[in-house]
This record gives sequence, structure tokens and C-alpha cells, in this order.
Amino acid sequence: MERLVIQGGRRLTGSVRSSGAKNAVLKLMAASILANRPCLIRNVPRKITDVEVMIGVLQGLGVKVSWEDPTSLRLDPRGDLGFHAQDELVREMRASFQVIGPLLGRVGRSRIYQPGGCVIGQRPIDLHVKGLSALGAVVNEEHGYIDVHGGRLHGAEIHLDFPSVGATENIMSAAILAEGTTVIRNAAKEPEIIEEQNFYNRLGARIRGAGTDCLRIDGVQELNNREIDYAVIPDRIEVGTFMIAAAITGGDLTVTDVIPEHVEAVSAKLRETGAEVRVDEDSLRVVSAGRPKPTDVTVLPYPGFPSDLQSPMTALLTVADGTSIVTDHVFEARFRYVDELLRMGANVRVEGRSAVIKGIAGLSGAEVVAPDLRAGASLVLAGLAAEGQTVLHGMKHLDRGYERLEEKLREIGADIERHID
Ligand code: UD1
Repeated sequence: MERLVIQGGRRLTGSVRSSGAKNAVLKLMAASILANRPCLIRNVPRKITDVEVMIGVLQGLGVKVSWEDPTSLRLDPRGDLGFHAQDELVREMRASFQVIGPLLGRVGRSRIYQPGGCVIGQRPIDLHVKGLSALGAVVNEEHGYIDVHGGRLHGAEIHLDFPSVGATENIMSAAILAEGTTVIRNAAKEPEIIEEQNFYNRLGARIRGAGTDCLRIDGVQELNNREIDYAVIPDRIEVGTFMIAAAITGGDLTVTDVIPEHVEAVSAKLRETGAEVRVDEDSLRVVSAGRPKPTDVTVLPYPGFPSDLQSPMTALLTVADGTSIVTDHVFEARFRYVDELLRMGANVRVEGRSAVIKGIAGLSGAEVVAPDLRAGASLVLAGLAAEGQTVLHGMKHLDRGYERLEEKLREIGADIERHID
């Protein structure tokens, strides 16, 4: 049993460096399946369990994986690959689903258990299925498995009902070796999609438009034979978490190795709460101005405020000087952690996709359980700001996505320790 014990009330000050972006790294790892030569991915957050799970998934399929140095992962997909991703691993992490597109291109088939991961709403896969079917793949869903077959796929015009990140990625990767051109409209615009476009184009794909809502993939017969060496972008969700941590603890914190543009929505909201956010080329400094002012937050696909930072932002607003409303238009059931915040004295009412937060003067430490990854981060932040001791259970969720979280927080002044029985 592992838990975090936090003595609240310390200001966070100094400087903290971000790690590589989990959600980009996982997809680049999956993308290596399509390569003809080994790929080196740098700036990998080695210590998060999602990376370990993806390594397991890829090894199970036949990809050879090794660490070149502590943050550089070498993936060698040469040789025969399987098509059935290991069930236990897939159940643990939804991002395993992103091997489908690359596997279709490489071996023409993919069999995968219905994905697991954080329980934050229904998380259907209809958009993946519709898109892959439009490319000519045959998708069967039975006994809890998604079985996708296809010979050489063909290009298609696809309009997504919602700019799903995962569906955009699977369709994009499946279209790379298809015959003809694929156009994905209402595509996700997240920075991770740009990362994947860049990575695949280095492998010889012909993709344009990432970062806009229209992606165009000109199918190629085969990819090139170059080894690639790719450094992944900083983790904008981790960066945003530290920014909000500075604000909630009355701190003065510089986050380094940042692409400020990727967290503009967070900077804007923090400024509305009264914090000062100073932007440099590749760092950000957040200086709290005391108790936050209330503000409303609407979670939307990028470049809107990110769903993954909805819960940390809600934690901040629990101590605002007034009432705020947070509405999540990306996931419909992402407020399961609110009950835990209530234990800490917060005044929050959930109504459908919205939380109405009446700010209180201060939280009080309590024993709480993280129901999912980002909710875990919000409880850590609440604990850092609360009076007295907070004990957080459910570490397996936090460890999925934050690298050395408590060590990094300690380095900037937090009183936080992991206890293992
Ligand atoms: C990714 C991120 C996750 C982030 C989310 C939204 C990874 C590993 N995870 O998740 O951290 O919170 O983007 O930014 O990168 N939907 C459908 N049908 C589908 C697919 C999705 O209705 O076929 C819905 C989902 O239920 C959800 C919304 O679309 O309500 C967004 O999901 P999506 O963008 O696909 O998120 P993920 O790729 O799963």
C-alpha cells in the first residue's frame, strides 16, 4: 500500500523542469511499429508506468525495446510482428488502443481488448471504428475484442463528429500506407498530433495540416529506410499542473523546458484568478497574488482549456474568493474526485457536466483517494494548500502520468513524502 503524506501550507518557490509529454511519447512509441528501421525517442518520461505498459505492449508484438540512456528509448520494429496486443496491458492503459492504426499499416491486422485506462466517462470508440471502416478496414467487435482487418487500405474523406485525439491518430496512422489521399476534417488540433505528423513524416509519410482541423495524408507505397532520432515536446499537462500548484500555494514558481504556447489557455485562466504569469521563450513564471479570484472555466478540445487540467483548476477555485463554474465539454463524467475535495472542506456541487464551486477561505487536510490520474493531481494540489495533513491513496493512478512528482514538489518547497507499507 503506497500513499502520499502531505503537510500543507508551504509556498512553492524556485524552479522545476518539465518532463517529456506522456501523451505524445506513447503515440510515438506506437508509431515506431510502422518504421523500417530503429527509432530513437528522446526526452521520454521513463519513470511513469504508462511508458512501461506501452513498452510491454510493443515487446509483446515483437518490437525490440531498449534504453539508450536514462531518457532515450530505442525501438526496433524490424522482423515479424504480431497483431494481438496483450490483454492485461491493454486493460491497464487506454493509449494501447493507438497501436491499431500502425499495426494495420504494418501487418494488416490488429486485435485488441476493449481499452481500459482512467474511468472518466463512457469513452466510446465509434469514431475510430467509423474512420477505419471508411479506409476500407473491416472492424469486428466481439467478446470484448476489437478485431480490425484490412489489406491495402484506400484513402477517404472523413468528417469526425467530435475532434477526438485518439480517433484522429488511429485514422492518420492507418492512412499513411493506404492507396490515395485521406482527408480528416474536424480533426483534433492538439500539439501531440503535430508531434506525430512530424515523426511520421521523418519516417517518409506525407501528412500535412496537423495543428489545424483538417489533416491531409497522401498515401505512400512504402516508408524510407532512415533511422530517426526524435526529441519529444514537454508535457503541457505536467507544466499546467505546476503552474496551478504555484497559484494554489501562494507561490512563485518558474517552470522550465516549456512551450508556453501549449499552455496559453492555462496562463489566461490563471491571470483571471489574479496570478501573474510571465512568459519567456522556454519557461514560465507564475507568481501568486494571494487568494485567487473566482472565474468560470469551459473545457474544450485544444486550444481550449484542457480536460486533463480541469480537476487541478477546480482544486484551485475551491479556495477562490467567490463562486466559479467549471464545465467539461470533453468528458462527461470527470468530476468523480469532487467527493474527495468535499472531505477537505470544499463547497462544490456537480450538475451534469458542470461543477459549481463556492470558494472557501481554506481547505483542511484529510484522508482521500485518487479515483484517476488527473484527479489524483488535483488532490495533491489541494493537500499542498490545505491546513494540516493530507494522506492520498491511489498512487497507481498518479504514477501512470507524473514522473517523480513528489521529488519534484519537494525540490520546490513542498512537505510531501511517499509511505510504503
Ligand atoms: C486523449 C488523452 C487524454 C485527454 C483526451 C482529451 C492520451 C493517451 N489521452 O484521450 O489525456 O484527456 O485526449 O484531450 O493521449 N469519443 C467518442 N468516440 C470515439 C472517441 C472519443 O465519442 O470514438 C469522445 C470521448 O468519449 C470523449 C471525447 O470524445 O468524450 C474526447 O476523447 P478523445 O479526444 O478521443 O480522448 P483520448 O484520445 O481517449
